Amino acid sequence: MTPQIMMSERLMKPLRLLEYIHSLEDNQFDLVYPRGVRNLSPVHWTPVTVARRAAAFLVREPNTRVLDIGCGPGKFCIVGALTTGGQFTGVEQRKDLCDLAQTTIHQANIPNAKVFSGNIAEVDFSGFDAFYLFNPFEENLETELRIDDSVHFSINLYSRYTQHVAEQLAMAPLGTRVATYCGVYQEVPMGYECLENSMDSRLKFWEKTKHERMVAKPPEAPVTGSKGRFMSRSFDTDERGDWDGAD
Ligand SMILES: C[S@@+](CC[C@H](N)C(=O)[O-])C[C@H]1O[C@@H](n2cnc3c(N)ncnc32)[C@H](O)[C@@H]1O
Repeated sequence: MTPQIMMSERLMKPLRLLEYIHSLEDNQFDLVYPRGVRNLSPVHWTPVTVARRAAAFLVREPNTRVLDIGCGPGKFCIVGALTTGGQFTGVEQRKDLCDLAQTTIHQANIPNAKVFSGNIAEVDFSGFDAFYLFNPFEENLETELRIDDSVHFSINLYSRYTQHVAEQLAMAPLGTRVATYCGVYQEVPMGYECLENSMDSRLKFWEKTKHERMVAKPPEAPVTGSKGRFMSRSFDTDERGDWDGAD
């Protein structure tokens, strides 16, 4: 999937995103993307209904700054920006997906959404108030779930990215909100309380309620489920990696 192929396949059509968002129609919304990216949607991009709920939870007041950790072609940021008063930023390591997100946001003229190209391991979270994760690091563990082979994968990278996010979230102020979709949320450190758990435990809403000391020890990769995906596994809070509550 190269940027050239993506752009030449791309259908330039009027963007009726809000209409599709309000009717919760993923098939319609995803038409904004070229076929190759659209076909990835059922597995890799957040469903509109989930994005709306997560964005509504994360944006507590106008201009809340939300970071989508691994934003893909920007679907969560676009839905969030169009349905709340938050400021949505996505970071994406795959340049072609980042370019597509930027083009889509520009064409749809969405002033409160933007994305940038980069690796989460280089991102300082202090410029954001709330965070969204759709299981971004799982492809380091599951070959079947890789979008493509354009990036490096390893269990060590899984641990490194997960640890970076956990460390950054551990430094965030009380009241910081996080929404996780699928995965085993090892990125969420102790001190965050799960306020809502829905969609068969796939969608979780967290808020930082306590300052907890974090042990500097990288999380071990979780065991995958029988279908080779750990999105359906339901973990208790105590199983969230190796972070120690100190007390
Ligand atoms: C499951 S997709 C979710 C996309 C988007 N957040 C959504 O909900 O529609 C995970 C995305 O994270 C990106 N990603 C994985 N590891 C990353 C990293 N270390 N830094 C930045 N992006 C990363 C992948 O390229 C992929 O596009």
